[in-house]
Amino acid sequence: MIITIDGPAGSGKSTAARKLAAKLGIAYLDTGAMYRAIAWAALQKGLRLTDAAGLIDVARTSDIEVDCGPTHTRVTLNGTEVSEAIRSMAVNQATSFVARIPEIRQILVEKQRQIGNRLGALVTEGRDQGSVVFPNADLKFFLDASIDKRSMRRYQELIADGEEAAYDMIKENLEQRDGNDRHQWAPLLEPATAIHIDTTQMTIHEVIERLLEEIRKRNLAP
Ligand code: DC
Repeated sequence: MIITIDGPAGSGKSTAARKLAAKLGIAYLDTGAMYRAIAWAALQKGLRLTDAAGLIDVARTSDIEVDCGPTHTRVTLNGTEVSEAIRSMAVNQATSFVARIPEIRQILVEKQRQIGNRLGALVTEGRDQGSVVFPNADLKFFLDASIDKRSMRRYQELIADGEEAAYDMIKENLEQRDGNDRHQWAPLLEPATAIHIDTTQMTIHEVIERLLEEIRKRNLAP
């Protein structure tokens, strides 16, 4: 059983995917972590982010392992644990250069499909999981929320992690990312068959209940 959860930054898809997978007792795949791992490796190598050939080479030659548990994602790249390092601001920014290169997307899409085939059952989360990676998924969700709510969630996450954060900058950054999503590389597409959930007014508990309700309706729960 493959369940996809896609949506814009800050829509709550990561938390929802992680908690849903834990409830169902199946694996969770954080595909953003894979793009982040490539960006981290490129920064380590001192590559220029405009060096597409260099970035593609990193993606081709890197062995990325993503182990997503109910409370954390553990990522290793060529045997080095990078789980924390891939969440830095520098990696955040570098990842958008990595994610816009079609050859890199193709490599990671292939890896994600291999993980899906190997595990058989998983909740996978990103921005192209239902549209590109798993078009035949058993169930597809698309989560969304207002820009203000998404900005506030990001802000609170960063503050909870002890980071310095300014709400206005976060909102500006999300608006920019929304623009990228709509107009350029790897557009954030909502599959026609996806169940659209606006989480603006919902708690995470309510979101999970809603996802579970749709799963039960279809007798998909393991
Ligand atoms: O979800 P996240 O913030 O960890 O994603 C990191 C970056 O990778 C972000 O720029 C979106 C991009 N990404 C992507 O292009 N395709 C995916 N399937 C997942 C993430």
